[in-house]
Amino acid sequence: MVDKSSRRGFLRTTAAGGMAALTGTRSDAASGKQPNAPLVSNESPISRGYPIFPIAQASELNTSASAVFHYPDKDSPCLLIKTGDAVPGGVGPGRDIVAYSAMCTHMGCLVAYDADTRTLKCPCHFSVFDPDQCGQMVCGQATENLPQIELRFDDSSGRISAVGIRGSLYGRVSNLL
Ligand code: FES
Repeated sequence: MVDKSSRRGFLRTTAAGGMAALTGTRSDAASGKQPNAPLVSNESPISRGYPIFPIAQASELNTSASAVFHYPDKDSPCLLIKTGDAVPGGVGPGRDIVAYSAMCTHMGCLVAYDADTRTLKCPCHFSVFDPDQCGQMVCGQATENLPQIELRFDDSSGRISAVGIRGSLYGRVSNLL
């Protein structure tokens, strides 16, 4: 079992590493990008323009807790969740790993994952969201689903990366500032 605090430290570290990669250079002339161009995902319309941040190793996750990371920048907290069952948008060997913005779509309070009920709950006005159904709003004051973070799983390394966002982050005109 992985210690939660060390895992969070790892997540923060790897997200920061992703940021470093974002500002790094590419030597692949065949990519057609200019030297010093940011590393961005262009593999799907959803993720086009978003940075690619490695956020966790799939083997370190368990179903009893969520892990915090930030995407697409440090001002946007997100939760990484292993549900234990294959779900829409899930990645990893069991297609059961998903991620959501932690900012409630009602007024931006931070939601928390309740592993017992497999829901995301907002403490401010008690909105509830379903991580098994793409962040669907179940009840409460919120009127919009939680934005789902698009993930990618690398078979060879076991690494999970954030590559895009479905939906609009709370309080932003654009997800990418
Ligand atoms: S801020 Fe979450 S329900 Fe109001």
